[in-house]
Amino acid sequence: MSGRLADKVALVTGGASGIGREIARCYVAEGASVVIGDRNATLLAEVEKALGAAAVEMDVTREADVERAVGLALSRFGRLDIGVNSAGLGFGVSVLEQTEAQWDTVVDVCLKGVFLCLKHEARAMVNAGHGGVIINIASISARQPGEGLSAYCAAKAGVEMLTRCAAMELGPQRVRVVGIGPGLIDTPLTTFQQDRPHVREAFLANIPLGRVGVPRDIANAAVFLGSDEASWISGDTLFVDGAELTKKYPELGRFRRS
Ligand SMILES: NC(=O)c1ccc[n+]([C@@H]2O[C@H](COP(=O)([O-])OP(=O)(O)OC[C@H]3O[C@@H](n4cnc5c(N)ncnc54)[C@H](O)[C@@H]3O)[C@@H](O)[C@H]2O)c1
Repeated sequence: MSGRLADKVALVTGGASGIGREIARCYVAEGASVVIGDRNATLLAEVEKALGAAAVEMDVTREADVERAVGLALSRFGRLDIGVNSAGLGFGVSVLEQTEAQWDTVVDVCLKGVFLCLKHEARAMVNAGHGGVIINIASISARQPGEGLSAYCAAKAGVEMLTRCAAMELGPQRVRVVGIGPGLIDTPLTTFQQDRPHVREAFLANIPLGRVGVPRDIANAAVFLGSDEASWISGDTLFVDGAELTKKYPELGRFRRS
């Protein structure tokens, strides 16, 4: 199918890599005009060229950057219909060893960044009076604890609840707010398992559908949720994870210690 997002304008943060990049690619293929935002200027330039999208260098933890990114969608394409908040990062460190700066880095990007983007994307939609949809990329880590991932899991759980609160507040103004919770997806974020067969095996043992995900798995959900086919879906997070959430997160601490 094509043209499912014809005439829509989307902003995709974290759009220079991995899941965000594939969402941006599929959105363009479905007829949307897309602005990609990312803090990695080199990758951003590459993706801008490959997709023919507009691009803006931004740090999602800085409100002025977020306003500038939303402003670019409005000035270049005249409106904003879809915000996809995919910028994120994480790293493994135990609760006992974690520094305040490490905690702040993860929570600022993964939770505050989503809040700032959601706020300004929603303002543009409400001010224009046409509504829209905001898609927050959470994670199975919102529900499933992972060793060494306390900041990441806490931030992603926060994203799931932020999605619910915002959907409640913004529904009357015709703004839908939904989440996607990916399971393990092969992207630059997850190289820690791609080149370590025993770690990958541990993940695979807990994925009932028997394979690791690819960015397209998430992009397919993002196309549906961003389209008018999903016009009565808001507040929930859709977990796209090969049923990983039905099992447990691998004991990553064991691999770190070995
Ligand atoms: N890959 C997975 O297995 C997986 C699983 C669950 C959730 N997720 C989530 O999916 C989202 C995308 O992850 P990915 O796997 O595509 O990772 P990725 O590293 O390939 O892409 C993330 C992008 O976000 C950008 N970014 C990071 N901090 C930023 C900031 N402060 N401002 C602007 N851009 C910033 C990076 O430059 C990068 O281009 C993240 O929110 C991640 O937590 C990924």
